[in-house]
Amino acid sequence: MKENFVFRLPPEIYFGGGEGKKAGELVKRWGEKALLVTGKKSMQETGILEEILKSLEGAGVQCSIFDQVEPEPSLETVDRGLDLAYRERCDFVISLGGGSAQDCGKAIAGLCGNSHTVLPYFEGKVLSSPGIPWIAVPTTAGTGSEMTTNAVLTDYRTKLKKSFRSPYLLAKLVIIDPLYTRFMSPYLTATSGIDALVQALEAYVSQEVNPVSEVLAEEAIELLWKYLPQAVKEGQNLNYRKQVAKGSMISAMAFANSASGPAHGLSHIVGPEFSVVHGEACGIFFPRVVEFNREVLKDRYEKIARIVEIEGEEDLIDKFIEAFLNLMKEIGLRTSLGELGIKEDMLQGIVKEERIGRNLRENPRPMGEEEIYTLLKASL
Ligand SMILES: [Fe+2]
Repeated sequence: MKENFVFRLPPEIYFGGGEGKKAGELVKRWGEKALLVTGKKSMQETGILEEILKSLEGAGVQCSIFDQVEPEPSLETVDRGLDLAYRERCDFVISLGGGSAQDCGKAIAGLCGNSHTVLPYFEGKVLSSPGIPWIAVPTTAGTGSEMTTNAVLTDYRTKLKKSFRSPYLLAKLVIIDPLYTRFMSPYLTATSGIDALVQALEAYVSQEVNPVSEVLAEEAIELLWKYLPQAVKEGQNLNYRKQVAKGSMISAMAFANSASGPAHGLSHIVGPEFSVVHGEACGIFFPRVVEFNREVLKDRYEKIARIVEIEGEEDLIDKFIEAFLNLMKEIGLRTSLGELGIKEDMLQGIVKEERIGRNLRENPRPMGEEEIYTLLKASL
């Protein structure tokens, strides 16, 4: 636990049903022209895009739409959006959609005025000044990108997925309208929700956790553990949607101010290699990571077991692992890489030095290439 720490969050966060409609009035202080960054179709199909555009128009804000963001956005997509922001002379960027739209819009806003391409920054160059303001309107509940200062991007030539980081990437404003999450399919609800849950769990046991993020992680674990299965089963129940959106928001606040852990590090290795959905991969790896760390993090895991109301005095960690796997099954997710069609020989050569992220390197029980393979094999 860190006793000396810094705690950063976006300066304004609006949460609640109907808050999305206020977007225009809330953003007009940053200028007259927005770049709206979103995915290829779901925002059109659900009517959310139309609602946001109407709100911007009502407030006198013009808008250029960049609707080319794919799942796991590429460096090229960021460059294309950035190009549009320059050509249209946009004053600020609004991301509308799931984690991919958030990460992509965040990177574009940060780079605008600083560079015409993301590659040097993806490779570690430091952003020397702020870009243009970035406003996050998430429509899934889970990735937490709206709260963080890193944009997760993928270089498809090298199959390298990692973060472009800078304190300048923090959102100026976040609008979380749980009504927008009701369009998610049960599978998307499950994968984004389990991502939020694993983020809270990894934040809670992280070496970087501080007294504030600890309390937040605890609350997020409780909310998501209780409400995620209900939201998956009854997607039209707005109370369940609200509770999961709240849990996800709080989880993001916690992990943005601590660190993620090995389940995330491992999912960044297999994700671009086998096109595994991020949240599902995190959920598959997490119980194996608990097994790996159970001696060094015994007290923390036992506390988690108590948070999710596992009873008794003995075998708390075993019972927790079992309960976590049951939760995965209950929400319709697979619990092994094998079920995703990944076989042992396919793992050969996928762990490379440049793919071993901080969240693996800084594990309290040392984790090198060999241990990573052991964990990957244990997850088959
Ligand atoms: Fe995640």
